[in-house]
Amino acid sequence: MNVDTLAVYPGSFDPLTNGHVDIISRGSRVFDRIIVAILLNVEKAPLFTVAERVEIAREVFAKYPNVEFDTFDGLLVEYARRRQAGVIVRGLRAISDFEYEMQMALMNRHLNPEVETVFMMPAVPYTYVSSRLVKEVVALGGSVTTLVPSLVEDRLREKKLGRETLKA
Ligand SMILES: Nc1ncnc2c1ncn2[C@@H]1O[C@H](COP(=O)(O)OP(=O)(O)OP(=O)(O)O)[C@@H](O)[C@H]1O
Ligand SMILES: [Mg+2]
Repeated sequence: MNVDTLAVYPGSFDPLTNGHVDIISRGSRVFDRIIVAILLNVEKAPLFTVAERVEIAREVFAKYPNVEFDTFDGLLVEYARRRQAGVIVRGLRAISDFEYEMQMALMNRHLNPEVETVFMMPAVPYTYVSSRLVKEVVALGGSVTTLVPSLVEDRLREKKLGRETLKA
């Protein structure tokens, strides 16, 4: 039987970093198709709207025919079932990600044993990159060139982040 392997890569992507880009491009080589699924309403005050995040990701991955973008709400395993995806992709940066990710993977397996979670490691230069830190660095006037796609860097600049945004 030759069934396409469809994977879902869920996250908030607020904003997309080169760590996410690395995992998505690795996933696109391993799986037939990968859906980048942007979680709705995770944070009360996201920096980028979901529509902006989808638009940015679409533009960055314009040349990847097997990478799709979507939004979801509620249980991830239900979303995976609805999309008929057999795999959940997650990125592992460091030991610090491990405990939470293992709990999530086992809980998702409990909820739906048919969906398998697959972890991927990013290239070493991205192991310390997170959306939260990127926003913090930009708000304090630091450079995130090489840590995010240049389109994201431009969009971050347009947001005119300052110290006061960090309180949110
Ligand atoms: N630099 C990175 N390298 C590898 N995986 C990553 C990286 N950043 C995030 N991920 C993974 O991508 C998925 C989605 O993460 P998420 O949207 O929470 O990004 P984040 O950078 O951790 O954002 P935040 O700082 O807001 O938590 C998770 O599996 C996370 O472990
Ligand atoms: Mg995170």
